[in-house]
Amino acid sequence: MEKKNIDWGNLSFGYMETDKRFVANYKNGAWDEGALIDDSKVVISECAGVLQYAQTCFEGLKAYTTKDGKIVMFRPDLNAERMESSCKRLEMPVFPQDKFVKACEDVVRANAAYVPPFGSGATLYIRPYMFGSGPVIGVKPSEEYQFRVFCTPVGPYFKGGAKSITIKVSDFDRAAPHGTGNIKAGLNYAMSLHPIVQAHDEGFAENMYLDAATRTKVEETGGANFLFVTKDGKVVTPKSDSILPSITRRSLVYVAKEYLGLEVEEREVLFSEIGDFAECGLCGTAAVISPVGRVNDHGRIIEFCDSADEMGPVTKKLRETLTGIQMGEIEAPKGWIYTVE
Ligand code: PLP
Ligand code: COI
Repeated sequence: MEKKNIDWGNLSFGYMETDKRFVANYKNGAWDEGALIDDSKVVISECAGVLQYAQTCFEGLKAYTTKDGKIVMFRPDLNAERMESSCKRLEMPVFPQDKFVKACEDVVRANAAYVPPFGSGATLYIRPYMFGSGPVIGVKPSEEYQFRVFCTPVGPYFKGGAKSITIKVSDFDRAAPHGTGNIKAGLNYAMSLHPIVQAHDEGFAENMYLDAATRTKVEETGGANFLFVTKDGKVVTPKSDSILPSITRRSLVYVAKEYLGLEVEEREVLFSEIGDFAECGLCGTAAVISPVGRVNDHGRIIEFCDSADEMGPVTKKLRETLTGIQMGEIEAPKGWIYTVE
């Protein structure tokens, strides 16, 4: 298979239309078989649940070319599982987990020419999503849905790669206690657009959201979980019912313990203690682990001594080990790597 003529090394995290996408429809209480199609346009009712009441959720995962030339996906079963919980919370029908993984695999295979080569620094981002496509005018769940998967080759989420970013403490809340912060609902991102545009206008790369109830605890950013490192090399990551259970974060916790022999604490992290940490990173599928150098709290600067300018040593080791596992250079734990045949 011949690869597309793409400047892989200079890709940003953007959308590029690829050849095929998967579509399945839910009607009269059942999903159809679904199929790969060419048309990238979506045609739905003007009164669709997604358009009126934001009934939509999504996932994000990546495919990689390994050192020995295979195409693999990273832990797609966990995305399928998380989408199931998103659907249940939004009163949407679950797309069966095995079919979710197969749809992702089919889309990657059909777009193999867009999977960036090993060592290019780029990856193939896979975006499964579901939305209410049938008309609703009273506030209630739609009766019809579409489940789709497309993919697009991407570069780094934050410009500058390993250079540390500066983020700000947001005055907005991302998720209410007992709300939807722990699922991947489109509405969580709609509400973050105003704060992120403001942050960018002020020169910051992202927002740090605090817990909405007390504004004393660190939650996450608009698109990634936090990971901190103490001065004595312990990994600390915030635990909260209103943050998204990041697959990258869960994988890094395992890597820290089992591959690097580090101590890990998953616990509530007070905003008042973050100045004591030596390193800070943002972890997620898109972000991988991106170093945070500074947090701006209304003009007061909190600086992480070992990640002030570039990735700190522990973050770097975590990143190298995780990407090594994803790219087939380091042996993966059982079940983490799904080969696209
Ligand atoms: N938190 C939020 C709000 C996200 O959008 C994402 C991205 O998916 C993450 C965390 C990271 O999750 P994952 O590692 O599963 O991609
Ligand atoms: C991801 O990391 O997959 C995300 O969804 C983050 C962002 C692009 C929304």
